[in-house]
Amino acid sequence: MKAILFLVLLLGLCACERAMQNMYDQPKYKTMGKSELFADGASARTPPAGSVPQSTGAFAGTSSGRLGEENLRREAEAADAQAIPYPVTQQLLARGRERYGIYCMPCHSPVGDGDGWITRRGFPHPPSYHIDRLRQAPDRHLFDVITNGYGIMYPYADRVDPSDRWAIVAYIRTLQLSQNAVVSTLPADMQSQLAARRGGQR
Ligand code: HEC
Repeated sequence: MKAILFLVLLLGLCACERAMQNMYDQPKYKTMGKSELFADGASARTPPAGSVPQSTGAFAGTSSGRLGEENLRREAEAADAQAIPYPVTQQLLARGRERYGIYCMPCHSPVGDGDGWITRRGFPHPPSYHIDRLRQAPDRHLFDVITNGYGIMYPYADRVDPSDRWAIVAYIRTLQLSQNAVVSTLPADMQSQLAARRGGQR
């Protein structure tokens, strides 16, 4: 009796499998396959002019595979760090400068003195990054301001990944140094250039 029941069940399952075959063999285009639907006979369509690819940037690989997990782990670590968690390289600064230009410069200005274009249209002036309080503020404060906003400044957490926030923080530190550099710490050739320029102005 048990054996018969088992057979019936097995047959039932096989029927199931056959019905599911429809899902395996769906009518769909294989990559670069032909299509009757479009005049040029190709199923792959050319993106409209001006399209921007979405599969770039820090989260490009997150939908599958190891790269995605690694990215998520890296971003979680960046979100926890108390100070810039990477070596400050030319590459990090270039990334920070680019992101700063997109997200911060309109209000904070190219040198970070708070005199951005938006303020000339009536938006309140942000403070200059070159005041003592912000020069002495810990890296994490700058990171938190980007994440959570500050006063009337909007939060940027949904637009700037944690790793990019640190790149921006590194770039703000560079801006701060650029406005408060001690001349004797500059390379000799720059010191003489500066002296020559000062001489010329007199
Ligand atoms: C739309 C204009 C605007 C943009 C864009 C903007 N900010 Fe601000 N930011 C402000 C204003 C205004 C304040 C002053 C807010 C207040 O005190 O109420 C401010 C304050 C700050 C402060 C000072 C916080 C403190 O302790 O006083 C920092 C640091 C800062 N912004 C960093 C950034 C960074 C980094 C970005 C880019 C990711 C950015 N801001 C984008 C307007 C802006």
